[in-house]
Amino acid sequence: MITIIANDYDDLSYRTAGIAAGFIRKNPGSLLCLAAGDTPLGAYAELIKMQEAGAVNLSDVYYAALDEWVALGPGDKGSCRQVMDDHFYLPAGIPRDRIHVYNGLGDPAAECEAMNRWLAARGGIGLTLLGVGMNGHIGFNEPNVKAAEGAILVPLDDTTKTVSVKYFGRKRPVSAGVTIGLSTLLKAREMLVMANGAKKAAVIKSAFYGKPDPAVPASMLQDHPALTLLLDRDAAGMGSFTPGGISS
Ligand code: F6R
Repeated sequence: MITIIANDYDDLSYRTAGIAAGFIRKNPGSLLCLAAGDTPLGAYAELIKMQEAGAVNLSDVYYAALDEWVALGPGDKGSCRQVMDDHFYLPAGIPRDRIHVYNGLGDPAAECEAMNRWLAARGGIGLTLLGVGMNGHIGFNEPNVKAAEGAILVPLDDTTKTVSVKYFGRKRPVSAGVTIGLSTLLKAREMLVMANGAKKAAVIKSAFYGKPDPAVPASMLQDHPALTLLLDRDAAGMGSFTPGGISS
């Protein structure tokens, strides 16, 4: 595992985007599996800036959604599809036939099968960019969910339900999600895991600086052979950076 500790969120986003852009340049035609959520949004904005500067063509690769809330559709604020469309796919101008997402309003089993066909048709995941939930979840691989192949339907953990309000702007009765399972994510050729903010420091410590434990799904990624963990100083438990000194 390589760990990169960035000074702040902007630096974290820039460094993550630089690694992802390098992968895209070297691996045209490969499949990227990207998390929604708040953490990677700055990296997506940086990737779009890099494309505008001619440094990368984001339409050289294919995309698979990592996860989706069951019962939320593209018109629902906070659905993974809405977040990714607004922050990445639409502003980056990615052709729709290069993207496969779940329809949260569809039959979950059929949505998982369709995702599995897309993953198989693209030869598996080249690079995955992941965030870490407050309960250590990866995608919707919730604490103690069995490491699974392909896309799966998972009941949501209480922490995930509580945190969900920040995406929806209100309480919604979400109870399940669809997600690519840990076993398939672990087969990605390269894995980027991001976290920022002091609120993530405890979960990052138990996930990456303790023993692998299914109760903290992110810890199951530790042994991936090409894992880069990207943290800002707060998520690394080092306090904020101030020029000329370090504050805690
Ligand atoms: C979102 C996803 C989730 C988030 C995680 C962190 O597609 O897969 O696992 O990555 O919950 O969320 P944020 O980034 O909002 O802290």
